[in-house]
Amino acid sequence: MREELCEAAGVQLLRWYDAQARVMPWRVGPEDRRLGVLPDPYHVWLSEVMLQQTTVAAVRDYFRRFVARWPTVVDLAAAEDSVVMGEWAGLGYYARARNLLACARAVVRDHGGRFPDTVEGLRALPGVGPYTAAAVAAIAFDRPAVVVDGNVERVCARLFAVEAEMPGAKSDLVRLARLLTPKARPGDHAQAMMDLGATICSPRKPACGICPVLGFCAGRAAGIAADLPRKAAKPAKPVRTGVVWVAVRGDGAVLLEDRPPRGLLGGMPGFPGDGWDGAGGEAPISADWHEVGSLRHTFTHFHLDLSVRAALTEAEPQRGAFVPRAGFQPAALPTLMRKVWDTATARAVEWGGHWP
Ligand code: ADE
Repeated sequence: MREELCEAAGVQLLRWYDAQARVMPWRVGPEDRRLGVLPDPYHVWLSEVMLQQTTVAAVRDYFRRFVARWPTVVDLAAAEDSVVMGEWAGLGYYARARNLLACARAVVRDHGGRFPDTVEGLRALPGVGPYTAAAVAAIAFDRPAVVVDGNVERVCARLFAVEAEMPGAKSDLVRLARLLTPKARPGDHAQAMMDLGATICSPRKPACGICPVLGFCAGRAAGIAADLPRKAAKPAKPVRTGVVWVAVRGDGAVLLEDRPPRGLLGGMPGFPGDGWDGAGGEAPISADWHEVGSLRHTFTHFHLDLSVRAALTEAEPQRGAFVPRAGFQPAALPTLMRKVWDTATARAVEWGGHWP
């Protein structure tokens, strides 16, 4: 697209958003915005943190539970860490949940419970990176911030037929996204770009026939839209192996251990494992271990193949602590640990884990 056409493309995009904006629990739709309804910055911030690396469909229920339990940032700031981590369980990328709490507390401590309303002010909060700062500034405060996530990168790469490979093309795409960002309604523009990328301008088979900015799209004109953005070939993910131990006592108590605060599943409760780095490690408790299966879990940078061992034991643990069966909630565990529990309980008859 020629750069002087950006304004016209922006107008078309907003017109489409006015008619087609997706309904989301954290979003103030274009109709309500026009009537003067303002977004709640807490909702916008919370949703943007949750949406990083996670789909809208997966986030909806988590978002609803969070705001029902903690209606304001002041409520969230006062929550206990382990309770928030438990509510976050299953969303993944647990450093986000720790940063979420640190940020909520900084907003209360340093800003009287009100989110700063500029990109710079937001950026100074713990755990708020350039994307989140721009998204909250635009969506909650209508600042003309340039909001660039994967959807926006794809839309820009296609509209402007950028053939350079990712991630090298990123800075050029930010520059182009800036050209597209209007002074009026920048918050709705940001959300329109994301909606377009998530629905019509989708990664594999873009629905160009119904695209509101089809007439501006240089990628489409060149017949290469679906191939953009081009990506440098990624090296295959390495595979790590490890062991995880599920120990259960005769009274039903389950041996759990909090993971170290930094690193994989940082700060989350789970079944004790070895280092998961191939170096091996000792079982956390003496027991007659049964090999009950193996599972694969994929993290950002590697696959983890875990061998699951389970046993019924009355010994004293060397690591971790027994949690009474009544207080043990598999739903509050990270997804990997839930898979471990399912693997162990599926074979419970073999290792004696069929307690009353
Ligand atoms: N993805 C991340 N943030 C979003 C938003 N505010 N609207 C739609 N999709 C999103």
